[in-house]
Amino acid sequence: MKTKISASILSADFGSLERELKRAESSGCDMIHFDVMDGHFVPNLSYGVPVLKSIRKYCGLLFDVHLMITDPMKFILPFKEAGADHITFHEEADCDPNEVIDKIHSLGITAGISIKPKTPVEAVFPYLEKLDMVLIMTVEPGFGGQGFIPETLEKISALRAEAERRGLRLDIEVDGGIGANTAPKVRAAGANVLVSGSYLFRSEDMPSAVESLRR
Ligand code: DX5
Ligand code: ZN
Repeated sequence: MKTKISASILSADFGSLERELKRAESSGCDMIHFDVMDGHFVPNLSYGVPVLKSIRKYCGLLFDVHLMITDPMKFILPFKEAGADHITFHEEADCDPNEVIDKIHSLGITAGISIKPKTPVEAVFPYLEKLDMVLIMTVEPGFGGQGFIPETLEKISALRAEAERRGLRLDIEVDGGIGANTAPKVRAAGANVLVSGSYLFRSEDMPSAVESLRR
């Protein structure tokens, strides 16, 4: 599977988001990763629907929305209307995952479930047939710029093995601490969508940084 790069704008310069989005697009990224935090599911706040709505027009890439919020069901429609092309919510959130997946699909966009580092990968197995993507967090969600947790590699390979056993072409996304040193490890384990925030946005040569994640 071709490796896709999703640039997490959590580490972008918020004073110049239009320029940062264009930089990600012209550097060869495949998607924009939009992290939504509610200060409850995770101990941090980020941005929400109005921000997505106003920046969507500056960039032609797919918007990959990652909801780190307690009540995802309530916000599926607003995020879709604001321009989300894909929505991922957390298995640990306060919701019925089947209902949330069906709601996302009913709006004509793709759906993903994410699990935190301490959640066993088997927690997503009941939903694999109806999911487009599983996001394995490789840091504790809530902040950019943290160190990659190596124990998550086993979860990636177990999930890839299970998807192959069932004959599913599942996207496996990883998020947290992804840079030139960790990208080869997660790709070897079976991940094909790599989220990267601080590594990409802090680099002075983003096209080379993007390329280093694919190599
Ligand atoms: C963390 C977010 C990530 C974050 C990753 O909760 O989900 O998307 O931006 O940042 P880096 O790539 O800096 O670890
Ligand atoms: Zn994220």
